[in-house]
Amino acid sequence: MKVAVTGGAGYIGSVTSECLLEKGHEVVIVDNLSTGHEEAVERGAAFHRCDLLDTEAVRKVLSTGIEAVCHFAAFSQVAESVSDPLKYYRNNVCGAVSLAAAMRDAGVTDILFSSSAAVYGEPDSTPINEDSRLQPVNAYGGTKLAVERMLSDCSKAWGLRTLSLRYFNAAGATGKHGEDHRPETHLIPLVLDAAAGRRDELVIYGDDYPTIDGTCVRDYIHVKDLAEAHLLGLEKLPAGCTGALNLGNGRGFSVLQVIEAASRVTGNDIPFRMGARRSGDPAVLVAASARAEEILGWKRRHHEIDVIIEDAYRWKRDHPGGYASA
Ligand code: UFG
Repeated sequence: MKVAVTGGAGYIGSVTSECLLEKGHEVVIVDNLSTGHEEAVERGAAFHRCDLLDTEAVRKVLSTGIEAVCHFAAFSQVAESVSDPLKYYRNNVCGAVSLAAAMRDAGVTDILFSSSAAVYGEPDSTPINEDSRLQPVNAYGGTKLAVERMLSDCSKAWGLRTLSLRYFNAAGATGKHGEDHRPETHLIPLVLDAAAGRRDELVIYGDDYPTIDGTCVRDYIHVKDLAEAHLLGLEKLPAGCTGALNLGNGRGFSVLQVIEAASRVTGNDIPFRMGARRSGDPAVLVAASARAEEILGWKRRHHEIDVIIEDAYRWKRDHPGGYASA
């Protein structure tokens, strides 16, 4: 299959491109490199440096025999989305509208959309299934929900075939691709930087949550398992598979448990101190992913938090300064 991957120079997009190529698919990456890295573009993929807001340029790329789109390109810093919502709505929502228009004009019908657990906001109960209330508590989640709805409306209007994949906390790496956000705000890369002495200490955002040890609990899902779900989703779209599916590990780990695991993996003590809560952080986010397992036939292969952290650690060790240091 010839697949366009928007955001293919980013974290989850680059890993998915790698897996698509391994499985013999043709990959065409569309990325404006605003947050992605040219070094992350898979060698076997075609690459167009192109902004999704340029509908005509995207249409031209899609008119080269593209059969399906995996749409990853988006801004994803929750705190930034709260302080600058227009930046997020312009890029994430207007970009997706432009992409959908380009797909319609190019006659491409199939799209997998990278959505997020952020669409649930502060959940009423956990584990969270797809029928839980959709009530994003930040602009980032708001943009993801808006795009899910826009794609579903296009589906009703002109037959777009769309499936939204709601990721929980993507983590881990492959040998080639890992997390390199600037600035980095995600827990596991920050913990690994503290373990390696690249950062003085980790600040834990709050220890007074109603959880096992007072720190927030998250569901860390290996990025390779996320990529695998995309391969399965692409096969299912033509059969009418639609709607939204959660992708998580089904197990929650607190911030302190992640620090302990990283300490085991690296063999180093990790300096940390307790800080204030970060605004917008729900206490517990754990996925019920039974629907994805049933509908996609998805099986997670990398459950263990130590394995997930070990893969992230290996990538960090080989790329201490991110892609620039490769
Ligand atoms: N944390 C710290 N200190 C840090 C960084 C993070 O204590 O320096 C804590 C956070 O408070 C949170 C946990 O570690 O409890 C995980 O934080 P991340 O920033 O790694 O991830 P989030 O859970 O905030 O967000 C992730 C994605 C979002 C997505 C969200 C949905 O980054 O894109 O999951 O679950 F919206």
